[in-house]
Amino acid sequence: MTEPGFVSAFAPGSIGNVAVGFDMLGLAIAGAGDRVSARRVSDPGVTIREVRGMDGQIHPSLSAAADENTASIAAKSLWFAAGHRGGIELIVHKGVPLKSGMGSSATSAVAAVVAVNALLDEPYPTEDLLVHALAGEQFASGGLHADNVAPSLIGGLVLCPNVLLPRMVSLKVPTGVSSVLVHPDLEVSTADSRRGLAKTYSQEQWLTQQGYIAGFIAACEHDDLDLFAKCLRDELIEPQRAASIPCFPDAKAAAMRSGAFGCSISGSGPSIFALCADDDAENIAAIMKQACQDAGYECQSWISPMNSPGACIETAK
Ligand code: HSE
Repeated sequence: MTEPGFVSAFAPGSIGNVAVGFDMLGLAIAGAGDRVSARRVSDPGVTIREVRGMDGQIHPSLSAAADENTASIAAKSLWFAAGHRGGIELIVHKGVPLKSGMGSSATSAVAAVVAVNALLDEPYPTEDLLVHALAGEQFASGGLHADNVAPSLIGGLVLCPNVLLPRMVSLKVPTGVSSVLVHPDLEVSTADSRRGLAKTYSQEQWLTQQGYIAGFIAACEHDDLDLFAKCLRDELIEPQRAASIPCFPDAKAAAMRSGAFGCSISGSGPSIFALCADDDAENIAAIMKQACQDAGYECQSWISPMNSPGACIETAK
């Protein structure tokens, strides 16, 4: 519930990389997200009153220090850019599990900038909030990548390579395709995972992956599901990260056997996603969960349309 005087924004979690576009492609999901409430206060600066978890209790591990939380770092960037007097107080409600590969840090940052934007005398267009949300996300992930922030902000499937920022491009999504996201009960730090990745790749490797991302974008544009399935692949990053998610090989094999167009690691993991026909989604979610449980990991799952909405204001000023 939003407290009197506060404006609340909800931002959805997201699938980073979408297999084929490391750091440059992201997909919004439905059903899991963070809520940030904000109000103007007379004291200058941005503070967090409290961070609460999914159970409504004070979050056991997330810091409410303004310089240590992605929500306040992003909010501060926007608030100072707007140049208003006074300050902002935030309340953060985490709905996305931490270190899950579901864009948790980006989700808080996006919800914060959308809430604070609604408090400005002259709110910015939604697209202009990207750079401020990125300021928060960068703090948490140890690198610049917009593949969680961009879909959480504007929804759907978004192309957002660093070389084009702050531009981001909403891609058409193919008809009748859903995402299945399974979160095994494990934690992976994105910053640690990124540090472990190879820094150089052979010409053959990057030519292959470039071919897939180009083909994937064309497949979306032309609603070509054969090409979509052929290109939904990650030859570069997935092989390096798979070992950190013991249930991944079995979950992927099960999803592919059941007709998924593709299956890979969401962001840096441990969540695993598949894209599949709408009608297959329930079954594929069940068999992916079963594979994770058989390997000893309890899990949650979400099924979302590919054009799931981005962040929104929940309560007017
Ligand atoms: N593109 C980032 C990575 C996303 O894979 O490291 C992290 O969620």
